[in-house]
Amino acid sequence: LALVMNQNTGIHLILLIFTDTNLIYFLLGTSYHGGYSHEAIVYALTDCGMRHIDTAKRYGCEENLGKAIKESGLPRSDVWITNKLWHADYGYKSAKAACLKSCSLMGVQYFDLYLMHWPEAQQPSCSNREMRAETWRSLEELYEEGICRSIGVSNFLIHHLEQLKEDCSVVPHVNQVEYHPFQQPNDLIEYCRKEGIVFEGYSPLAKGQVFKNPIVQQIAEKHKRTQAQICIRWSIQNGVVTIPKSVKKNRIWENCQVFGFQLDEADMVALGGLHDGRHVSWDPTNVH
Ligand SMILES: NC(=O)c1ccc[n+]([C@@H]2O[C@H](COP(=O)([O-])OP(=O)(O)OC[C@H]3O[C@@H](n4cnc5c(N)ncnc54)[C@H](OP(=O)(O)O)[C@@H]3O)[C@@H](O)[C@H]2O)c1
Repeated sequence: LALVMNQNTGIHLILLIFTDTNLIYFLLGTSYHGGYSHEAIVYALTDCGMRHIDTAKRYGCEENLGKAIKESGLPRSDVWITNKLWHADYGYKSAKAACLKSCSLMGVQYFDLYLMHWPEAQQPSCSNREMRAETWRSLEELYEEGICRSIGVSNFLIHHLEQLKEDCSVVPHVNQVEYHPFQQPNDLIEYCRKEGIVFEGYSPLAKGQVFKNPIVQQIAEKHKRTQAQICIRWSIQNGVVTIPKSVKKNRIWENCQVFGFQLDEADMVALGGLHDGRHVSWDPTNVH
């Protein structure tokens, strides 16, 4: 459920517009409310010009999403679809089978991007590192076969990426990680850029926590924009692909209107200073 669109300069913005209620239990204690909105997906594709959809097996909406894309009337080649492999499916054979099943559920022949969702394998037979490497080899083959046109990871830290580099041959094309003003993993971003890995940030609104912050509020007032637009714009100006999620049409539209203004240096410094290390989603720090 993420959509990206920028008619002028290419893909910069990923708007996550729905997710599955299964995720809620990961997110207890936050302001998060999930849910799938078929109407919102079609609206985003047909009325907002969005062309990038990011989903995951975990979100449980692949089939409906495939239908929404078809309903939009857009040709497959005009839509970028990212999907993710859940860690219960890690392993050489099971990863391949899961990817093909996801393709079938969505009614597509290929994914534009396919990510390993989480660095922990939770398979008692071997270490996380071994299982990540075995799974990655399967993704490398899916990439060679053209079933996945690019492959990547999510929630991977530098040590996970370093191990993968030693164990495998294809460097991940993307790493999707939590990123918002309170969570700025700058060392990881620098590492990804040095290694040629696109850094993609999720939860750019910190699941709504940014709305309570006075600095974000002040900057929004200064630019006559909403706080959501300020945070999305901040990610883009930092060169980070961003994934705001909404199931509401007016918010999807609002979250797209982020290309007609610029944050100045003082704004960027002020927002950059808000990092306090909090995670509003998962924290992979202790996954070895
Ligand atoms: N790769 C991973 O491991 C991972 C982990 C966590 C999350 N994610 C993905 O990232 C997505 C986004 O994360 P998140 O939900 O934590 O996202 P977020 O984008 O930081 O926050 C989403 C929340 O903000 C609200 N919202 C969106 N636009 C708004 C606007 N313009 N004004 C006011 N409220 C607005 C949404 O409500 P409404 O929908 O009601 O508008 C929702 O409650 C998730 O859905 C999930 O799929 C990925």
